[in-house]
Amino acid sequence: MNLYNVLASVTLLKIVCCHVVLDLSSSNWNVYENTNRTIVTHGAVPGGVYSMLEDKAMISDILYGNNDLNYRWVGSYAWTYYRDFELNATHLAYPSLNLILHGIDTLAEVFVNSQHVLSCDNMFVRHTADVKKILVEGENNITIIFESPISGAEQIASRLGYTVPPVCHPPSYNGECNVNMLRKMQASFSWDWGPAFPSTGVWKPVEIAMSEGPVIRSVGVSTAVEGVYWRLNMSVWFDTTNMKLKDTLFVELSHPKSGVVLVTAKKFNLNSKIGEEEVNLSVLVAKTKVDVWWPNGFGEQNLYNLRVYSTHSEKKMQIGFRTIELVQENVSKDEKQGKTFYFTVNGVKMFAKGSNWIPSHVLPERLSDSARIVPLLEAAAESHFNMLRVWGGGVYESDLFYETCDRLGILVWQDLMFACSLYPVSTQFLKSVEEEVKQQVQRLQHHPSIAIWAGNNENEAALAQNWYTSDNFTGYKSDYIKLYVDTIKPIVTNLDKTRKYLTSSPSNGVETVEEGYVSKNPGNTLYGDVHYYNYLSNGWDHRIYPNPRFASEYGVQSLPTARCLRSALPLGEMKWGSTFIEHRQHSPGGNTILTSRISDNLPISNDINDIIYLSQINQAMSMKVESEKYRRLKSVLLDSGEGYTMGALYWQLNDIWQAPSWASIDYCGHWKMLQYFAKDFFAPIIVPPELSPDRNKISVYVVIDGKSQYSQGNVTLNVHSWSAGNWSPVKQFTSVKTLVDNESFEVFQIPLSDAVKGGKKEDYFFTTSLDVNGNAIAPDNFLLMSSFKDKIPESSVKISDYILVDSQTAELSLSAEKYALFVWLDLNGLDGTFSKNGFHMFQPSTKIIFKSKYPLDKSSLRKITVTWLKKSY
Ligand SMILES: *[C@@H]1O[C@H](CO)[C@@H](O)[C@H](O)[C@H]1NC(C)=O
Ligand SMILES: *[C@@H]1O[C@H](CO)[C@@H](O)[C@H](O)[C@H]1NC(C)=O
Ligand SMILES: *[C@@H]1O[C@H](CO)[C@@H](O)[C@H](O)[C@H]1NC(C)=O
Ligand SMILES: *[C@@H]1O[C@H](CO)[C@@H](O)[C@H](O)[C@H]1NC(C)=O
Ligand SMILES: *[C@@H]1O[C@H](CO)[C@@H](O)[C@H](O)[C@H]1NC(C)=O
Ligand SMILES: *[C@@H]1O[C@H](CO)[C@@H](O)[C@H](O)[C@H]1NC(C)=O
Ligand SMILES: *[C@@H]1O[C@H](CO)[C@@H](O)[C@H](O)[C@H]1NC(C)=O
Ligand SMILES: *[C@@H]1O[C@H](CO)[C@@H](O)[C@H](O)[C@H]1NC(C)=O
Ligand SMILES: *[C@@H]1O[C@H](CO)[C@@H](O)[C@H](O)[C@H]1NC(C)=O
Repeated sequence: MNLYNVLASVTLLKIVCCHVVLDLSSSNWNVYENTNRTIVTHGAVPGGVYSMLEDKAMISDILYGNNDLNYRWVGSYAWTYYRDFELNATHLAYPSLNLILHGIDTLAEVFVNSQHVLSCDNMFVRHTADVKKILVEGENNITIIFESPISGAEQIASRLGYTVPPVCHPPSYNGECNVNMLRKMQASFSWDWGPAFPSTGVWKPVEIAMSEGPVIRSVGVSTAVEGVYWRLNMSVWFDTTNMKLKDTLFVELSHPKSGVVLVTAKKFNLNSKIGEEEVNLSVLVAKTKVDVWWPNGFGEQNLYNLRVYSTHSEKKMQIGFRTIELVQENVSKDEKQGKTFYFTVNGVKMFAKGSNWIPSHVLPERLSDSARIVPLLEAAAESHFNMLRVWGGGVYESDLFYETCDRLGILVWQDLMFACSLYPVSTQFLKSVEEEVKQQVQRLQHHPSIAIWAGNNENEAALAQNWYTSDNFTGYKSDYIKLYVDTIKPIVTNLDKTRKYLTSSPSNGVETVEEGYVSKNPGNTLYGDVHYYNYLSNGWDHRIYPNPRFASEYGVQSLPTARCLRSALPLGEMKWGSTFIEHRQHSPGGNTILTSRISDNLPISNDINDIIYLSQINQAMSMKVESEKYRRLKSVLLDSGEGYTMGALYWQLNDIWQAPSWASIDYCGHWKMLQYFAKDFFAPIIVPPELSPDRNKISVYVVIDGKSQYSQGNVTLNVHSWSAGNWSPVKQFTSVKTLVDNESFEVFQIPLSDAVKGGKKEDYFFTTSLDVNGNAIAPDNFLLMSSFKDKIPESSVKISDYILVDSQTAELSLSAEKYALFVWLDLNGLDGTFSKNGFHMFQPSTKIIFKSKYPLDKSSLRKITVTWLKKSY
């Protein structure tokens, strides 16, 4: 321990004396429906009306059956929140008394002791009101009068005088209209994967902040290497609502484990204006004193404690030392071939692997639940994700979300909260957005996990491709530029000098700027990112997929696990085609598409349990084929200029209710087959086999992210015959290959006719492996040649032994009679994950580790059952 630093920290230590928060969060709020006052009850803050009525059993489980429709009245009523609170002379003696509303959902008027203090119209904004002159000794009260978001949105739309499309969602969403008029979670009026619950509530804490001086709200940091130092710049943002800043600011950076202080700094004689104040500080930290922060898979996630404090206030956070860049440079001398689009972290080129994040609950007040957020992010990290895109139709997530991403090394592609829509640009709307973007960038900017800001989800594409068939392109384009370029861009780029701001996702990056912010084709594969969906073609055929620079969305639907579905299912509705299943499918034609795509490669059945299983196979296989293609393309530049793909973020990680969707983890937290597949296809090293476009040759690739640690490896391609009747490959090709760090390369290519020795290629399948001294360094991989519609190998698989290793870990032994495909272990009421699932048995036995969420006993273990792909359904 460094004694000097410890002493230095002691002399700087100040007692933070004079900032007291009276938290008005409690369950004592009176909540009532305004018009007739027929519903009068008590509710908690933070909270919301839906969750309050649910908690009081005045309505039942909102996600059950058709309750999204049954309880729509909650969203169409206007509600009031009211409470009183006591203040004494000590409280009133503070020179500064502010009411702080951290989050109000959404349209509301706020009164303190019957005096109007605030108007709210943006759930992403923190509101502050100076209530010094209004508060009294003894009893005080606060009233928050909400307007229904449904009728409120409609009124704003009608006042505008022109249409801002899309107005309403497709009828299959069972949604509400005009959500783009509100600065509210856009998915709360429904989405193609989620229900409409037009929420009302106080979704974040309410407090009276009492202080003798301005309070530190947020601290922004940026880091860059300067010779043998890290330059650490900080911007400290004070709330100076009713008083000037006359203070001294201190900064202390320390090691989180040892507590050793690494650097301190101070700034005297601050003297500011009223309103808001930014104070910059800059320090140098010797590079030898800190370890850098890396994304998952590239190194450790080293974090340091930063404490920033003044006489009246303090802020503590964890920061990381790292640089991040988005590289967009010409791919070749031929400028028509476009530009790269990839991230480097600490100068290392990084292939972005991961998925998209949607809100973890449909009610905003439940969005910071660690029991939902942490397991999802841990599953992402365990599956080798290094990036998640926080999609623009949800919310700016909780501090817990970003802190967990920092800890796990998951970079965040942060959309701003605008999605699949055009937006109004009234003075009031823009003013509200300005405050929103400023506050959110200030709140989130210090997280090392944040990689980039993007203005919206798909709004440039909607405009360029005229999704809403409007004839006012010029008008809407000018509004688009007013919002994302003239209003938002300067705020983001001023507050954050270290990250890029893209106006939209997908976009063509710098090319979009060249083209005046609305490109002719925002999905151009030669520039920027793309979103790619194809519901009409066979997803197991890699030829259907594009060759983009960066795929930030792509996906296929499947059904959630039966157990999850049942948790929402009315009696007798567990049938394919039931009213319930149709109700839950919001994507137009979605259930037909789902079975059509299953039937491209697999048998089809009318039994819902079979469709759950088959749809999950189809989803997992399609995402495997597509994701592996993108990873293979990372070192490949095609003649067209396409290739050099450096990102694969599939749609979507999580679910908002029990329904068919693109998610890889269902609403109940159960991994679908795709999540297990993702853990393999996103492994640091993979050996994907691939058929040539003419389907006459088979190639084996090795894709390496980062350093392989080994200079050479043995790549093996095994040829198996379905009819051989034993477990041995009929042929084997092996090559000792130099493993090139950070690259994707072809190891060998073999004519299919050689591989199958003149036989019919449908009678064979292939497996690949990569070994160093006999140890696998990549997950085993496979290529299935046949369609399994009617030609399925007969087999039988059983769990031959269940061994309890410790209270939450078990080992299962499986045995198969013959080759068995898509072997699936079903939890049947247990919770946890398997070391693999949805795997093939190309060997007579295998062992699987089960990690349970809860303590187990041997008998409950026997609930686990096994299934595999069978001939008839
Ligand atoms: C209030 O009562 C009137 C008259 O009974 C009724 O028409 C209306 O729907 C009620 N409104 C609400 C929000 O309960
Ligand atoms: C006012 O209440 C606080 C607790 O909230 C207490 O610490 C303080 O002593 C009280 N002051 C007076 C004058 O009663
Ligand atoms: C809230 O306080 C004001 C001012 O003291 C008072 O006039 C009003 O009646 C109070 N409201 C309620 C519901 O008690
Ligand atoms: C820190 O601030 C200085 C002065 O504004 C600037 O020149 C430098 O680029 C900044 N460095 C970082 C890492 O933000
Ligand atoms: C603080 O630093 C930022 C980033 O360099 C700069 O944009 C801003 O003007 C500075 N603010 C003050 C008050 O110096
Ligand atoms: C990249 O191409 C553009 C034309 O698109 C050209 O103006 C520019 O000079 C090129 N940059 C480099 C570094 O070659
Ligand atoms: C076209 O859009 C502009 C900008 O939003 C708007 O002012 C104008 O009224 C619109 N024109 C029509 C015909 O809708
Ligand atoms: C390959 O990746 C490693 C670690 O991820 C990095 O240190 C190295 O610089 C990279 N090499 C190249 C040529 O990019
Ligand atoms: C590759 O396999 C051969 C034959 O089994 C073995 O001698 C050699 O050591 C292996 N090389 C590596 C790098 O594992």
